Amino acid sequence: MNDDRVGLLSDATLRIVYYPHPTLRYMAKPVRRIDDGLRRLVKRMFELMYEAKGVGLAANQVDVPLRLFVVNLAAKPDEGEERVFINPVISSPQGWEEDEEGCLSLPGIYAPVKRPKRVRVQAFDLGGNEIIEDVSGLLARVVQHELDHLDGVLFIDRVDDEEHREEIARNLAELERRFSEERQAGAVPDDIQIAQRRELWLKQYA
Ligand code: NI
Repeated sequence: MNDDRVGLLSDATLRIVYYPHPTLRYMAKPVRRIDDGLRRLVKRMFELMYEAKGVGLAANQVDVPLRLFVVNLAAKPDEGEERVFINPVISSPQGWEEDEEGCLSLPGIYAPVKRPKRVRVQAFDLGGNEIIEDVSGLLARVVQHELDHLDGVLFIDRVDDEEHREEIARNLAELERRFSEERQAGAVPDDIQIAQRRELWLKQYA
């Protein structure tokens, strides 16, 4: 039990992972427990998000197989509002809107994505309180993008424009090349290590 904690929850082991890291395609599992370890995970996720200048970050993106994501539309620690969405569910989509998206796990890739303009999101915050909120604008887009991550879906899966798809394919090939180089150098764990780490998180929180 205790040795699990050392390996998993020491903040130093958490990093943003990049395509094609397998956890980005993993269907994350519901969180069943909120404790100090989970609060440390959330704190570290905000830090990593700010370092990367992002507005949202899902747990899959730090190789954690749990259904939660963090958002701060201001992308800065001392501005905006820090939001945590645990076990989120989206319903009541209304309208459509297209806007450009990017993703911290897909550096250098940007493309237009069509999504519902407004949605209702139901989730729990870090205090275990239920959130039910109708969201629109950038928050609606970010919430839908991050919820996709928890289902193993990336925004590039939702790009249908032919020209952008070709450009994305070239960028993905480059990311794949970089990923396999990093693996060969030992900077990225192998699939067995990733699976072992996943089991430890699931044992503790899912
Ligand atoms: Ni993303």
